[in-house]
Amino acid sequence: MRVLIVGSGGREHALAWKLAQSPHLTKLFCTPGNPGIGNHAELIAAGAGSVSDIADWAKENEIDLVVVGPEIPLAEGIADCLHERGVPVFGPDRKAARIESSKVFAKELMDRHGIPTAEFVVCDTVSQAEEAIRQFTSEGKQVVVKADGLAAGKGAIVTKGRDEALEAVRRVMVDRVFGSAGDRVVIEERLRGPETSILALTDGEHLVVLPPSQDHKPIGEGDTGLNTGGMGAYSPVPLVDDSLLNRIVKTILRPTIRAMKLEGCPYRGTLYAGLMIVNGDPYVIEFNCRFGDPETQAALPVVEEDLLPLLKQSAEGNLGPDRIVNANGTALCVVMASGGYPESYETGKSIEGLENDLGEGIVVFHAGTAMKDGRLVTAGGRVLGVTGVGRDFREAAKRANQGTSQISFDKAYYRHDIGYRVLGVT
Ligand code: AMP
Ligand code: GLY
Repeated sequence: MRVLIVGSGGREHALAWKLAQSPHLTKLFCTPGNPGIGNHAELIAAGAGSVSDIADWAKENEIDLVVVGPEIPLAEGIADCLHERGVPVFGPDRKAARIESSKVFAKELMDRHGIPTAEFVVCDTVSQAEEAIRQFTSEGKQVVVKADGLAAGKGAIVTKGRDEALEAVRRVMVDRVFGSAGDRVVIEERLRGPETSILALTDGEHLVVLPPSQDHKPIGEGDTGLNTGGMGAYSPVPLVDDSLLNRIVKTILRPTIRAMKLEGCPYRGTLYAGLMIVNGDPYVIEFNCRFGDPETQAALPVVEEDLLPLLKQSAEGNLGPDRIVNANGTALCVVMASGGYPESYETGKSIEGLENDLGEGIVVFHAGTAMKDGRLVTAGGRVLGVTGVGRDFREAAKRANQGTSQISFDKAYYRHDIGYRVLGVT
C-alpha cells in the first residue's frame, strides 16, 4: 500500500513510525512532515497545502490510503475532497468532524442520545451566558466556559466562582480571544475526577479500542499552571480496567457512533473520547475527531499488532467485530518543550544528542523540529516526545528519563513528574 500521512507533529511521527513497521506498506509519504518523520517517509509538498491540493496530489500519486493527523484539515473537509476523488481516507468527513469542531454539536448530540456528560447550557449571547452562570452557581456548582469552535485545545476555561466565570465569558464573547470560535459558548458544570483518553478506531459500525492513555495538560509539575496541548502521557491506564473499559464501550463509544449514523453523519476514523471518571462512572468531557497528541506517542508503542489493516478497514467500512486491543507492556512519553511555551518562546535552537543511540526501549518522536543549515533545530512549542517503553511503568519512566537526559537544546523545558499517578511520586 502507498500511504500518505497528513500533518507534522509528534502524533504524525508516531503514526509514521508505526506504519513503517507494516509488511503491507510499500511506500510512505507525509505532508508537510518534519525531519523525524523524514526517517520513515518521503516528505512532500502538495501544492500550497490546501485540503484540495493534498487530495489532488493523493489522486495523482495513486495513494491507497490517506491518514489525517490533525483536526483542522478534517474540519475543512479533507475527507470529503478525497471521497470525491475516490481516494480512501482514514478520518471523518466535515459533517462528522463537527463532533470536535463544534462543542455545541457534540453536547447536543450527547443530550439527545443519553450519553453521559456534564450538565450544560448553550448560549448565543452574553446575557444568556450570565443567566446560565447564575443558575449553576446558585446551586453551588462551579462552571467551565467553553468556546464552541476550534481553539487549539485552549477553548475550555475551568472556573472557581461566579466572577471568574463571568470574566471568562467576557474574554470569549466580548474580547473574542478565540475569534469566531467564541460566537457561541457552552456553560457546563465542572466535574471532578481523574481523566483518561480513549482512542477508538471505527468504520461507523464497529469499534477497535486502543489501549487507554493519560495526558498531562498543565505546563507545571503537579498539574499546575496554564493548559498546553499536552506535556506527556502514559499508556495503558491502570484505573481503566477491563470492566470500566467495557462500560465505556457500552455507555459512550457505541451509543456515539450509533447516534452519528442515526443523525445522518456516519463517523469513520478515530473517535477520541476525553473522559472524566466521577465516582467510578465515566463522563464525556470532550470528543476529538483524530488521534490525541501526545497520547498517540504513548499508546502506539504498546500496540503490538499491525495498525495499517485497521486504518484501511475503517476507511473502507469493513472493520469488525468490536474488540479491545490489549497493551503489550507500558509506555511513558515526556514532551520536551521550548522554554516559555505555551506562551511566547524562541525557536531555531540547536538540538543536541539525537545523533547517538539513546539506549534500549527509547523512541524519540519529533514535533516542532526543522533542519537549518544542515543542523536540527527547534521550530515549535512542543519540540520532541521522548517515549520510554518497558515491562512496567517504572522501567518505562526510567527509559524516558534516560532519553531526555541525553538530549539538550537552549531553554529546554519538560516535566519531571509525568506518570506520577502510577509511579507514586509527586
Ligand atoms: P476540553 O478542551 O473540553 O478537553 O477541556 C480541557 C480541559 O478542561 C479538560 O481536559 C479538563 O481538564 C477540563 N475540563 C473541561 N470540561 C470540564 C468539566 N466539565 N469539568 C471539569 N473539568 C473540565
Ligand atoms: N492531548 C490532547 C489532545 O490531543 O487533544
